[in-house]
Amino acid sequence: MKLTQKMQDALNHQLNCEMMSSYLYLGMSNRLIELNFVGASQWMRMQAEEELVHAMKLYSYLQDRGGRVKLANLEATQEAGHWNDMVSVFKAALAHEELISTNFYEMVDLALAERDHATNNLLQWFVAEQVEEEATLVTLIQKLELVGTSGPGLFLLDQELATRVSIVTIQTAP
Ligand SMILES: [Fe+2]
Ligand SMILES: [Fe+2]
Repeated sequence: MKLTQKMQDALNHQLNCEMMSSYLYLGMSNRLIELNFVGASQWMRMQAEEELVHAMKLYSYLQDRGGRVKLANLEATQEAGHWNDMVSVFKAALAHEELISTNFYEMVDLALAERDHATNNLLQWFVAEQVEEEATLVTLIQKLELVGTSGPGLFLLDQELATRVSIVTIQTAP
């Protein structure tokens, strides 16, 4: 069964949104370095990397289903310089993830209306992933609010965030 044009457009739009998520988180990672939170910056850099993996999932799926991948422009966020503490950065990330979740819910509605079960199956992976991402950010924000402006608290939390590692296996030449 071929993808409908409407579904192809929705998948391409979401592919762009995942790339934009990556770009947004890269900007956040950079801002966190400016704020001297090296660990949180590492965490956000890994988040940026993970969003690229999401984008590639959609990219491969479009190709597997005989659709056309259409790459679009990426816009840098203008807000980066306005975040002056760690909690503002993570709150902005949560707000962004909530928007992304809404996108997926709308796409599931479309997949169900079209009886496109294959795309629905792919989208359910993303729906579950969004639950995880939102939960992780909510927990982090709660910790940040608990710590407030305490220097030692922020220092410890930053160290905890530094432990996040890459999920991407880097292939190196033999
Ligand atoms: Fe994502
Ligand atoms: Fe995400």
